[in-house]
Amino acid sequence: MEWNRVLLGDNLELMAEFEDGSFQLVYADPPFNTGKAQSHQKVRTFADENGDRTGFGGRRYRTEAVGESSYADSFDDFTDFLSPRLSEVHRLLDESGTLYLHIDYREAHYVKVLLDGIFGRECFLNEIIWAYDYGGKSKRRWPAKHDTILVYVKDPERYYFDSESVDREPYMAPGLVTPEKAAKGKLPTDVWWHTIVPTNGGERTGYPTQKPAGILRRMVTASSRPGDLCLDPFCGSGTLGAVCQELGRDFVLLDSNPEAVEVTRRRLAAD
Ligand SMILES: C[S@@+](CC[C@H](N)C(=O)[O-])C[C@H]1O[C@@H](n2cnc3c(N)ncnc32)[C@H](O)[C@@H]1O
Repeated sequence: MEWNRVLLGDNLELMAEFEDGSFQLVYADPPFNTGKAQSHQKVRTFADENGDRTGFGGRRYRTEAVGESSYADSFDDFTDFLSPRLSEVHRLLDESGTLYLHIDYREAHYVKVLLDGIFGRECFLNEIIWAYDYGGKSKRRWPAKHDTILVYVKDPERYYFDSESVDREPYMAPGLVTPEKAAKGKLPTDVWWHTIVPTNGGERTGYPTQKPAGILRRMVTASSRPGDLCLDPFCGSGTLGAVCQELGRDFVLLDSNPEAVEVTRRRLAAD
C-alpha cells in the first residue's frame, strides 16, 4: 500500500480499511460541534387555579418553561460521536504507539473518562497544556487561553518516547543553572507555551481551526522514529502531514470536508 495519502470521507469508515497496529502515532483534533447537539427545555410546575392541567385531588397546575439546557446532551452526543472513532484509533495503534488527542478545556474531562475506558487508566501518559496568549480577554473570569492534549499509549511497558530529540526551552531562571545548561535549554514539561498560527506568514493556510506546526513537531519527534507511519483522522489543513514531511515520517490524513482535503493536498504539494 502506498503511504502519504489524504483521503476524503468519514473517518470511521476510512479507518476500518486499515489493519490492526498500522500506525506509530495518531494525532486527533476533532471538532466539538458534531451538529447533533439537542436542547432540552427545563420546566417548572406551579399550583394555579387558572392552570391548564388538573392534578391530584382536582388541583389545577400550570407549567412554565424556565430555560433551556443543552449541556449534558451535547456532551453525550460528542462522546457518542468520538467513542467508536477512538476505539478504531486504539485498534490501529502499534504496540509502541501513542495517541495525542487535542481537545478543548470544556470537553477534556469527559473525553479523559472515555479514553480511560478504551485504553485503560494505566495507558494514560500525560495531560499536555498548550498555552497561548492571543485574542480577547474577559474581565469577568480568568481568560481561557489553553487547550488540552490527552496522551495515551497502547502499552505502558512498550511505548516509544524520545525526549532528548525534541526542541528545548529556555530556563525560567537561567542564573540558577550552569552556563552550559542554560545554553542547552531545558526539556519541555507538560505545559507548552506556543503562539497560535501567525495571522501572516507562510504557515497559515486560511483553514479556520489550523493548529501550529510547532506543537505537532514536538509530538512527532518524541513519539515516532524516522520512517514511521502517522495518522490524523481529523486532518483539517493537514498540519500533521506537513510536519511528517519535514521530519521524514509517513502519514495518512483523513477528513470528511472536501475543502480540508483540497487545502491539505495543496499545502503538502507546496511543502
Ligand atoms: C479542528 S479541525 C482539525 C484541524 C487540524 N488539526 C489542522 O491543524 O488544520 C477538525 C476537522 O475534522 C473534520 N471532521 C469532522 N468530522 C469528521 C469525520 N467524521 N470524519 C473525518 N473528518 C471529520 C472536519 O472537517 C475538520 O476539518
